[in-house]
Amino acid sequence: MTDVDLVSVSLEVIRSGQTPSGAFLASPSFSQYGYSWLRDGAFIADSLLLAGKAEAASRFHAWVASVVHASAAGIERSIEAVREGGRPGTMDYLHCRYTTDGSAGPDDWPTFQLDGPGIWLWALGRHVTAGGTASPDILAAAELVGRYLAALWPVPSSDAWEEFPDEVHTSTLAADLAGLRALLALSATARAELAIVAAEAAIAARLWSQGDGRTAWTKWTGSDAVDASLLWIAAPYALVDPGEPRFAATLARIEAELVSVDGGVHRYRADTFYGGGEWLLLTASLGRVYVRRDRPGDRDRALRCLAWIEAQAGPDGEMPEQVATNALRPDAIGAWLASWGTSARPLLWSHATYLALRAELGLPAGELDGARSIS
Ligand code: BGC
Repeated sequence: MTDVDLVSVSLEVIRSGQTPSGAFLASPSFSQYGYSWLRDGAFIADSLLLAGKAEAASRFHAWVASVVHASAAGIERSIEAVREGGRPGTMDYLHCRYTTDGSAGPDDWPTFQLDGPGIWLWALGRHVTAGGTASPDILAAAELVGRYLAALWPVPSSDAWEEFPDEVHTSTLAADLAGLRALLALSATARAELAIVAAEAAIAARLWSQGDGRTAWTKWTGSDAVDASLLWIAAPYALVDPGEPRFAATLARIEAELVSVDGGVHRYRADTFYGGGEWLLLTASLGRVYVRRDRPGDRDRALRCLAWIEAQAGPDGEMPEQVATNALRPDAIGAWLASWGTSARPLLWSHATYLALRAELGLPAGELDGARSIS
């Protein structure tokens, strides 16, 4: 627990973690996280928008567009490879993380993740809906990413946790559906591209039928496990209302299997990364779902999520990726500590989702800076 102003600390951690290029470092002080992830960055940009920091968000969108344009030839080759029944090459597909100058990050852990580009399109759509404008350059990048996802979405890729590369993940499908929907609302060119329109419909059909008759969504088709990243289907992507029966069943499983006695949220039961701790960003997602569901007691549930997150901040107000208080696999922590030290802190994505939950609750999230255009 800390008595520092966590909103100010969060805004400052994010501000100082954004490089002049517009990229966000996942965590400036954690050796493995000195890169900019499309996934983390898109969620951070959306939180900044909610906190009134549209100008900083727009610089991230411009950075992603520059990465996409620099990768254009590889993206076209990836689309072609998949059309011909093959797999995209490592040097061709969009990577999940880049150095802040836009070069691909290290490839000693999985680099092919199809959720990040979808989350970026979704965040860009939110930016424009909130009054921002996307420059022709950014729009052209978004349209290229749309064609890329339209071709690649059925290809297995690692999930939001950079694991299980041989599966098509439900949470990834949801991100890509949210992204393509946002793009179709943004761009007449995308609407005219039959492949993009067809992919949007196909992903929707696949997502709704995912589970093979099961009542709840699972990590991937054929998996029995539930994963807390499935919360994003309702919040923030808003693909369904939290009361939708399959989402309600998924939420019930997440509450029963992944919420600790203290209220923090685990990723999935078999998680061993840092012993499978409780993640601040997932606890914020759960809080946002409660606010949107808005049943009696839900606001208090969301406020408890907020209080749990606040309690995990250090004396300086900095927030970690996860805490191991109720680790699922305490025996697995030692190996991670020996390799990399304690969990990443501060993690920009944790701070960002804290701000987003506050905004969802209608609590002050920061001063409006009024800047709204993307250049
Ligand atoms: C997480 C990813 C995240 C990355 C950077 C990984 O450990 O599993 O979701 O994008 O860290 O924060």
